[in-house]
Order: sequence, then structure tokens, then C-alpha cells
Amino acid sequence: MLIELKTEGELAVMRAAGKVVADALRAAREGAEVGTSLRELDEIAAQVLRVEGAKSSFLHYHPRSAPAPYPAVLCTSVNDAVVHGVPTGYRLRDGDLLSIDFGAEVDGWHGDAAMSFVVGTPDERDLDLIATTERALAAGIAAAVPGARLGDLGHAIGEIGRAAGYGLVADHGGHGIGRAMHEAPHVPNEGSPGRGMRLREGMVLAIEPMLTAGGRDDYRTAEDGWTMHTADGSRAAHAEHTVAITADGPRVLTVP
Ligand code: MF3
Ligand code: CO
Repeated sequence: MLIELKTEGELAVMRAAGKVVADALRAAREGAEVGTSLRELDEIAAQVLRVEGAKSSFLHYHPRSAPAPYPAVLCTSVNDAVVHGVPTGYRLRDGDLLSIDFGAEVDGWHGDAAMSFVVGTPDERDLDLIATTERALAAGIAAAVPGARLGDLGHAIGEIGRAAGYGLVADHGGHGIGRAMHEAPHVPNEGSPGRGMRLREGMVLAIEPMLTAGGRDDYRTAEDGWTMHTADGSRAAHAEHTVAITADGPRVLTVP
């Protein structure tokens, strides 16, 4: 498993990609009102790419595991959809829990981030699920320091989800990122302290906890070949940042 360590110059370009990602997510979130369609959110995010002169990391992305290339620039996962929700004509309803995920490429370097929020009137349980997912992400980011191990990072994320009684989607986690959106290593959302690959300065990881309200880890993939739903139909939340491991500590690249 070859992991390319990024130079400061390369991190600067990834930071530019991360800014586009943050801008697009913010614009899509602002546009997500009761009655807005998921396709309209995709169009809002695509417009940010055009204005900022960046390319989509997601559009036409076709891993071996998927039956068809990804058809949009944004992932829109509603309620029991965990991740990779394909934008459709569905119009958002009051109380929907929406997760949006976006990737952008600038000069050949990628950024990838996601956030979850409630449209309209929130249910306390959804706010708790989202807040816990964000805390898990923050704990994962804090563990992304030189000398720590991947198991420390996974442990930090998983402990928070499990302690709250939530499930963590099986076999899915974060990933290295750089010249490709998905690079080695795989970054599990659970782990054992002191185990796994040692983190080094110059590594860049997309850290992305996915928590399920029902406490189960299994999921099913929809007919579209992409959208992942919780197996029990309970709601799920997702949060993600692209993070560089530096001598000064974790550097979050996907911020405005
Ligand atoms: N953050 C997601 C992931 O790493 C983005 C993938 S979207 C895709 O899996 F649709 F392009 F695959
Ligand atoms: Co990702």
C-alpha cells in the first residue's frame, strides 16, 4: 500500500480544493429549504464549481463496486439514507434529516467533505444524532497527529458513537485523499488503540463517521446502485473533513 506524503506546496493546492468544497456545501445547505428538490441542490453545488473554476470529484466516478458511474456532483442522503444518496426530484419536507457530501478537484488535487442537518423543524433525536456524529468527527480529527496510529483514530471515532448507543455503518469509513479522491489507507471508524498503520506528517485523510440511530451496523444499497440505506430504516448522519497530518497537528483543509 503506497502512501504519497504531500509537500507544503501540494497541501496549499489541496487547501484550495477544500475551500471550494466548503463553499459548495455552505451554498447547498443554505438552499435546502422545505420544498427544495435534491436536484436543485446539486445544481447549486455545480454552480459553485463553475464560479470557482474547479472540477467535480464525484461526477462520473465509477469504482468497481458500483454498477454505474455516479451521476451528480453532490450526494444528498435523506433520513434513512446514510451516504451516496443520488439527487432526484424529491422535494425536502419539514423535519427531514439531510446529509450532503461534496468533492472538488483543483489542479489535480482533491478535497472531500460532508455535513448533516435538519430541514425545517428539528426533532431532538435527530439533533442528538447529528451532534454525536460531529463529536465523533472532531475526536477523529484530534487523533490525526504524527506518530499516532490508525487504530487510535478509529477508536476515538467509534467510542463516541457506541457510547451513545448508535450504530456505525459496517465496512465503510474514511480514506486517504490527494491526486485521487480515494487513496490508501482505508480509515476505519472503529479501531484498537496502538494498532494499525502509523500516521506520518504529510499524510492527508478524509475522516468520515456515519452513525445510525437504530444502533445497527448493516445497510442495503438502493436500486440506483449508489444510495446506501440503514437496514432497519432508522435515520443516519454523516460528517466528513479532509485533514492533513502536520508537525503542528491536524490541519482541516475543507473549511471556507
Ligand atoms: N465522501 C464520499 C466517499 O468517500 C464521497 C463519494 S461520492 C461518490 O465515499 F459518489 F462519488 F462516490
Ligand atoms: Co469521502
